[in-house]
Amino acid sequence: MDPIIRFPSLAEIPQACLAGLPLHQGEYLVDGELRAWNGPRKEVDAPVCIQEGGKLERFELGSFPKMDGQAALECLQAASRAFDNGRGTWPTMSVAERIGCVERFAFRMGEVRDRVIQLLMWEIGKTRGDAAKEFDRTLEYVRDTIAALKDLDRASSRFSLEQGIMAQIRRAPLGTVLCMGPFNYPLNETFTTLIPALIMGNTVVLKPPKRGVLLFQALLAPFRDCFPKGVVNTVYGEGADVVGPMMKSGLVNVLAFIGTSRVADLLKKQHPASHRLRCILGLDAKNPAVVLPDADLGKAVEECVLGALSFNGQRCTAIKIVFVHRAVAAAFCEALAQAVNALVPGMPWGEGVKLTPLPEPGKPEYLAELVADAKALGAEVVNEGGGAMEGTYFAPAVLYPVNAVMRVWREEQFGPVIPVVPFEDLEEPIRYITESTFGQQVALFGNDADQLARLVDPLVNQVCRVNINSQCQRGPDTFPFTGRKDSAEGTLSVSDALRAFSIRTLVAAKESEGNKRIFNEILRERKSNFLSTDFIF
Ligand code: G3H
Repeated sequence: MDPIIRFPSLAEIPQACLAGLPLHQGEYLVDGELRAWNGPRKEVDAPVCIQEGGKLERFELGSFPKMDGQAALECLQAASRAFDNGRGTWPTMSVAERIGCVERFAFRMGEVRDRVIQLLMWEIGKTRGDAAKEFDRTLEYVRDTIAALKDLDRASSRFSLEQGIMAQIRRAPLGTVLCMGPFNYPLNETFTTLIPALIMGNTVVLKPPKRGVLLFQALLAPFRDCFPKGVVNTVYGEGADVVGPMMKSGLVNVLAFIGTSRVADLLKKQHPASHRLRCILGLDAKNPAVVLPDADLGKAVEECVLGALSFNGQRCTAIKIVFVHRAVAAAFCEALAQAVNALVPGMPWGEGVKLTPLPEPGKPEYLAELVADAKALGAEVVNEGGGAMEGTYFAPAVLYPVNAVMRVWREEQFGPVIPVVPFEDLEEPIRYITESTFGQQVALFGNDADQLARLVDPLVNQVCRVNINSQCQRGPDTFPFTGRKDSAEGTLSVSDALRAFSIRTLVAAKESEGNKRIFNEILRERKSNFLSTDFIF
């Protein structure tokens, strides 16, 4: 396979891919209305370059509002008013009614599937298959969240009686949530916090990531139509312009952020009363794979390629460094190089394409620096053509042998570079993981149950998921997803997220005849949405 990509001319792009482009999105959602933005705009260019007259230019995809701090604050104030100190329509609505709104939204979302997939392909360069997977997985997450809330609500529909005190214990919303997802999963990771936050009765300000913004345009009207006014608001623009003023206002009760630990720390510090701020954070990671001498090398290579290069390695869960026992290092590297070079580079809509151009400006140049640094310090690129660049494309590079003095040893490359480290003693990868500032996952490849068990026990206290003979990954979404050290704060899964965006609250009374009469009357006449034994089927 030719490691270098061939960018198309405009005429070579299938017409269907170009439908509705460029997209100049001029509105944002605030206080229940789509308001036109008349201020400055931010241009969006695609990772895909167009070949014209021997020159490569990034395709101009459209633009979105470059809002300022004042406009962002208006959105946050709208969300805060809609919560109204917990007295708003949304936080006091019955769970069944809130579920109804989310169900209507899920239906409307299904109607814009093709448009969202098209924009995911164009804006972040995700292949058609992966973009479709991201959309479908997200819609499934919404449906699973509804089912999980029904379960939770059924369990909370009964009363507890302890030490002469009767109580009903439920989960109540926290307030106003600022939701910010990452560019690599702009829809999915944003929705894995936004949907549970909403369904638990919180109000939301959604700030799309730097890239992966335009796809939200198709969802603005469904948000407006399916939720009471002010419950969902959208903010666009540079993080520094819009997020700082919102955090400093003190009106954000929950920060749901997927990005770097550096930015998360900055944001947390801006809040005037940090003890009032709950944070759900998905942050940095550099998940290692460890290949033991008795591993099935074919399986290890297959999983390492998937783990390191799905979406060009732009996943927080990607395998970002591989430790291989010296006894099998040569055979592993040879097979890995072959498997990497068998992947098809191309445009996101191309049949069978696995590698695509990179959306972040300057990313190929950054990866080239990492490779040059490793080469200068003794590593080689072991796959033919690895590290070659063409416009926004960077051909995946397998680096071997990598050691602790190289930048790629510690920097999270978030791209198609696979550093391979030979080791003799198992203590070497264990020390790497222990000394690392990251703590998300590890993938172990081997066949000896004793040896794997000896590794599992120390590693489960260093990371939050140990994968055996499988790549690192987040899914299935019903499993807990979290990390230690600089990798995360809080735990997400379909059911954990409902807990993360709510707080246990109870109504309690001494078991007297008078109190029993009051409780019974409230329940019988359905006077309260909280104090209720209604069962959602
Ligand atoms: O970027 C981090 C994503 O949550 C990874 O999800 O492992 O399912 O690709 P994934």
